[in-house]
Amino acid sequence: MNNPIPSTTDGQILRGQTLSFRDDPFVCEPDNAIDHHTDGAVWMEDGMVRMVGAASDVIAAAPDVPVHNYGDALIMAGFVDCHAHFPQTAIIASYGEQLLDWLNKYTFPEEQRFVDSGYARTQADVFLDECLRNGTTTSSVYCTVHPQSVDSFFEASSARGLRMAAGKVLMDRNSPAALSDTANSGYDQSRDLIERWHGRDRNIYAITPRFAPTSTPEQLDAAGTLWREHPDVLMQTHTSENASEIAWVKNLFPHAPDYMGVYESFGLVGPGAIFGHAIHLSERERELFRDSGAAIAHCPTSNLFIGSGLFDMQDMRDCERPATVGLATDVSGGSSFSMFATMRSAYEIAQLRGYSLHPARAYYLATLGSAATMRLDDKIGNLATGFEADLIVLDLNSRPLITQRVQNADSIIDVLFAQMILADDRAVLATYAGGAKVYDRIAEQQAGQTSRPEIQSASHL
Ligand code: GUN
Ligand code: ZN
Repeated sequence: MNNPIPSTTDGQILRGQTLSFRDDPFVCEPDNAIDHHTDGAVWMEDGMVRMVGAASDVIAAAPDVPVHNYGDALIMAGFVDCHAHFPQTAIIASYGEQLLDWLNKYTFPEEQRFVDSGYARTQADVFLDECLRNGTTTSSVYCTVHPQSVDSFFEASSARGLRMAAGKVLMDRNSPAALSDTANSGYDQSRDLIERWHGRDRNIYAITPRFAPTSTPEQLDAAGTLWREHPDVLMQTHTSENASEIAWVKNLFPHAPDYMGVYESFGLVGPGAIFGHAIHLSERERELFRDSGAAIAHCPTSNLFIGSGLFDMQDMRDCERPATVGLATDVSGGSSFSMFATMRSAYEIAQLRGYSLHPARAYYLATLGSAATMRLDDKIGNLATGFEADLIVLDLNSRPLITQRVQNADSIIDVLFAQMILADDRAVLATYAGGAKVYDRIAEQQAGQTSRPEIQSASHL
C-alpha cells in the first residue's frame, strides 16, 4: 500500500465526469441505463456517498466541503469481481494445460505454500494491491484449505478498509493430503472463521466447497448444514466449467440428474450462492438458475485461457426470466486482474456466440451485476446516494492510442467501449474504499513501487 488510510469520516467532494446506473441495461434500452455528467461531482462522507450530480449542484449543497478536482477523468463505482483465487496470484499465466491438469500441475503445489501464514499474508497483500491498482474494490475470494490463509486474507482486507468476501476451501477427497480436510474439520474450521470474520469490519464470509469432485457427499452435506445455520453468509463453488470435469462429476454422483443437481441435493443452491463458470449447462440447470436466485460468475479470460468454453450470456441474462450474473477474473485460471480485460473477453466470447455485448451491459456486469451475485447491490457497485463510497477515477486518455480513439468517439458509451477494449491498469488514476483513497497512481509512480513485490521464489528456474 502506498498511503496510510485517511479518516473515512472527513467529508470530501470529487469533481470530474461521473457515471452511474439508473437502470438495468439488460432490461431497459442500454443507452438509457446510465447517468453521465461531463462536469459532475460526488460528495462522500462517513464512508458513504451523500450526493452525486452536476458539480454546481453538489458544490452548492456542501459549500464547506473540500473539493478535489480530477478534471475530465471519469468517476464511477469500483469494479466488483465475484470470483477470484488469491492463492493463485503467483501462478498466473501458467502454460499449456486445461482445467484438471492445470489444477494438479500448478494450482495444488502453489496452494500448499499457504500452510505458512507469513507467505499467505504476503500473497494477500500482493493480491489486494493488484486489485486496487486495477480499480477492483470488492472480490469474492477463494482462500486455501488452511484456515490461516483466511485469517491472513481478512487481516489484509481490514488493513485497507475493503469490503471483501472470502472463505476457506473445503476439500476432503481427490486432493493432495496436504490440502485435504475432513467433513468434520472443514465444518468446524469454517464455523470458527464465520464467527471470527463475518461482519467484522467490512468482511463477509463465503462457505467454499472447491467443487463437487473434491468433496465427499458428507462434506457437501456439512456445507449445506453450515449454510442453513448461517444463512446470511455467501456460498461459492464451481460448476460445469470443463468437459472432463463434468464427466467426472457424473461418475462420482451417478444418481444426480446433472452437475447442479449435486449441489441442489445438499441445499447449496439459492440466493447468496455463486457458481463459477456455468458454461455447459443442461436446460434443467438453466431453469434452475432462472428460478432459484443462485448466481453465476462469468469468468471470460479464464474460460479462454484454460480453454473451457463459451458462456452463453444472452441465454442467461438477456431474456424474459434472467438469472443473476456477474463478471469475474477467476485469477489465476483467468489471465488478468483487470476488469477491462475481463469485459473485453466477455465481449469476444459474445461475438463468437453470434451477438454483441453492449458496453453499458459489460460495465453493469462488472459492477452492480457482480454486486448482485453477492447480495450487495444495495451497498456497492453503483455511484449513487446511500451507497458505500467505493469508487474509482479513470483516466480516459491513458495511452496515445486510446486518446486518438476517443477523440473520434461520438458518445460516452463509445468512450466506455474503447476503454474496455484498450485500457488496462494504467487507466486507474485513483481508487477509494469507504471514502478513503487506497490507491493513487501518481503516488505509486513517484514512490517507484511498480509491481516489484518481495516474494519467495518457488526456485524452479
Ligand atoms: N475448479 C475447481 N477448482 C478450480 C480453480 O481453482 N480454478 C478454476 N478455474 N476452476 C476450478
Ligand atoms: Zn475459480
